[in-house]
Amino acid sequence: MIDNTIATGKVPHYTLSSGARIPCIGMGTFGSDHYSAEEVSAAVAGALRYGYRLFDCASVYGNEDRIGVIFDDAFTQGIVKREEIFVISKVWNDMHGKGDVLLSLAKTLRDLRLDYLDAYFVHWPYPNYHAPGCDGDARNPNSVPFSADRFMETWAQMERLVDKGLVRHIGMSNMTITKLNAVLGRCRIQPALIEMEQHPCFQQRELFDYCVSRGITVIGYCPIGSPNRPDRDKAPGDLVDTEQPEVLAAARAHNIHPALVCLKWAVQRGSIPIPFSVHEKNYQGNLRCVTEDPLTEAEMAAIAKAERNCRLVKGQVFLWPGAKSWEDLWD
Ligand SMILES: NC(=O)c1ccc[n+]([C@@H]2O[C@H](COP(=O)([O-])OP(=O)(O)OC[C@H]3O[C@@H](n4cnc5c(N)ncnc54)[C@H](OP(=O)(O)O)[C@@H]3O)[C@@H](O)[C@H]2O)c1
Repeated sequence: MIDNTIATGKVPHYTLSSGARIPCIGMGTFGSDHYSAEEVSAAVAGALRYGYRLFDCASVYGNEDRIGVIFDDAFTQGIVKREEIFVISKVWNDMHGKGDVLLSLAKTLRDLRLDYLDAYFVHWPYPNYHAPGCDGDARNPNSVPFSADRFMETWAQMERLVDKGLVRHIGMSNMTITKLNAVLGRCRIQPALIEMEQHPCFQQRELFDYCVSRGITVIGYCPIGSPNRPDRDKAPGDLVDTEQPEVLAAARAHNIHPALVCLKWAVQRGSIPIPFSVHEKNYQGNLRCVTEDPLTEAEMAAIAKAERNCRLVKGQVFLWPGAKSWEDLWD
């Protein structure tokens, strides 16, 4: 054990449009096809003890039942109270149909052993799905392009979950400005949060500003550039964030690992990174780093220039027949 705990009061919080508070950093729980549900849930247990209070889960990560055991134990042992943690989950692409969203949430709540979620997201704006662990060439012939009408049918089901008190907030993930323009005006309940890929080499500045200007809080996934992402998400030409000169310069100046520079940058920018690690040294360091020794304005400005438009999660496995390339998914 590296350290005992981080006092949760030391971790900055943001306030959502609802007035609810959310920690400025959370823990990701996608094992990237490398780590078992047992390994991920053991890390969640360690993270809870250390002071993490935000967890990014999803049904497709295949580990919610194990994480639920950890939450339950933590409540029973008095490590944390339910209302002190912010739990996110996401409806997978194969559960967008009429009546399916409620079924999906019910399974997630049962698996996580909770009676409400703090936030529930539409994981992808497509009802297109792939087999777990598939390779990058896998395609589902039933895949379809984005349709605002179809998305709104799914979103209306999400809104009803808020009405029923089963989820406190709803959110979207893997959206673009074009898609948001097509749906936000039709939402009875606006998304409180939007999850998007974000790291120094892929900052999505325009989308980030779009969300902030509408009071939507941004969660950034792959905040370290996801060095262990599944093979299907690796492509020639992908850049390594932790090797960029702007990130390395700040790491040297602060005498820290470049991964921590990425996380400090994300938080100081105003988004919520959700780094993943099953290694105690790493997940503890990730939480601790946002409580001390911030980047300077000059370092923040230098990292802003590290933008390389390098999307890592291209999503090509969700392409529909006739689509030309992964860029079609992103307008
Ligand atoms: N909404 C979506 O569609 C979507 C898509 C992708 C991801 N996500 C979410 O975002 C989370 C994070 O994304 P990610 O796991 O792909 O990428 P990431 O957090 O950028 O990278 C994770 C990797 O970084 C390494 N790492 C973590 N902390 C480190 C440290 N302090 N020093 C050095 N290396 C460190 C870890 O290696 P070790 O294992 O060796 O520690 C881990 O494999 C996921 O777990 C998931 O919850 C959401």
